[in-house]
Amino acid sequence: MNTEHGTESSHGADDKVPVAIVGASGYSGEELVRLLLRHPRVQLAAVTSRQYAGQTVAQVFPRFAGYPTARELRFVEPNADVLARKARFVFLALPHGVAAEFALPLLKQGCRVIDLSADFRLRSATVYREFYGHDHPAPELLEQAVYGLPEIYRPAVKGAALVAAPGCYPTSILLPTIPLLRAGFIETDSVIAHSLSGVSGAGRKAEPDYLFVECNESLRAYGLPKHRHLSEIEQELSLAAGLPVTIQFTPHLVPVNRGILTTLCTQLKAGLRDTRDATEVSRRVADCYRQAYSAEPFVRLVEEKRLPDTKNVVGTNYIDIGWRFDPRTRRLLVISAEDNLVKGAGGQAVQCFNLMNGFDETTGLM
Ligand SMILES: NC(=O)c1ccc[n+]([C@@H]2O[C@H](COP(=O)([O-])OP(=O)(O)OC[C@H]3O[C@@H](n4cnc5c(N)ncnc54)[C@H](OP(=O)(O)O)[C@@H]3O)[C@@H](O)[C@H]2O)c1
Repeated sequence: MNTEHGTESSHGADDKVPVAIVGASGYSGEELVRLLLRHPRVQLAAVTSRQYAGQTVAQVFPRFAGYPTARELRFVEPNADVLARKARFVFLALPHGVAAEFALPLLKQGCRVIDLSADFRLRSATVYREFYGHDHPAPELLEQAVYGLPEIYRPAVKGAALVAAPGCYPTSILLPTIPLLRAGFIETDSVIAHSLSGVSGAGRKAEPDYLFVECNESLRAYGLPKHRHLSEIEQELSLAAGLPVTIQFTPHLVPVNRGILTTLCTQLKAGLRDTRDATEVSRRVADCYRQAYSAEPFVRLVEEKRLPDTKNVVGTNYIDIGWRFDPRTRRLLVISAEDNLVKGAGGQAVQCFNLMNGFDETTGLM
């Protein structure tokens, strides 16, 4: 059994921030429970679940039974007023549409909110409607929401009341692509992204498409040609490039529990792509990535012979990025690997939480 050893920190209760997780029984919620139980500056004050209300965290997730908090804290029905009395920070690990219904009353009552759903990632309610198929439940909040990608929006995240943690696929595509666009290295209409995701990306809810027998020993593409995550990917790439960017994105479901591997195929701009010396192109790309990420605690540039793979990031908040220039096709191939539930969800949310509190960004994440 994968057991967590319950080492709760020696920080005094006054040093700790009371925190709640709404939707704590789902996959992202469970990952937040894992990270926050051992976070030295957090007091896990409330966790919600409709189906498990009344049960302790340790009863629902026996692997956390080593933590005293997990043995004492019981799941409660989600109620924004109750949560606002218990917590200063609230993580929302809910389906899109539902998250906004909680964010509004929580913010009104002075909580700071970190939402893992797609509800506040887009700047336009019209684009939200186009991709999510219903009106935005709280469009008035879109302006104040900060996109929670610390490597790109760190100063804004620090002061935000409402953070929209990015999607798992978007994180795997944006972090490798934004430095290349900012440096003017690649054609803005040339990006083709193929992503492979573990089945936990679909959440814990029971759906026939994600049953073991349907997924195991099989590979499939889905969500073509306009997966919902394209909306935030293209929004953020366009902001980085300073002009509209359109990409081709093909997600695939692969029979592993967690992890995302993305392969980006990009066309270098004329000049750079005419340099047939692969070593020289690789050196310039390496300089570009080092400039962007050498001080980043959770972005690892894979510059040796190997390429990123999910086994080296699963369970961590790292994203690994590697690249190759193909002088035959003159394309730049970039590979990224991350854990969809950590850097792609709960870990990134905790990274934002640390920034919002002025803690070291890596607290509880190393
Ligand atoms: N899975 C990933 O890799 C990943 C990555 C990045 C972002 N996200 C986003 O994070 C959010 C959660 O995803 P997930 O994969 O963790 O989903 P999940 O496993 O299906 O969990 C959803 C959670 O929300 C609760 N819930 C569902 N409907 C609710 C309602 N109407 N009112 C109150 N609570 C409700 C469920 O608990 P009860 O039914 O017990 O109440 C459960 O705890 C989604 O918006 C997803 O897009 C997921």
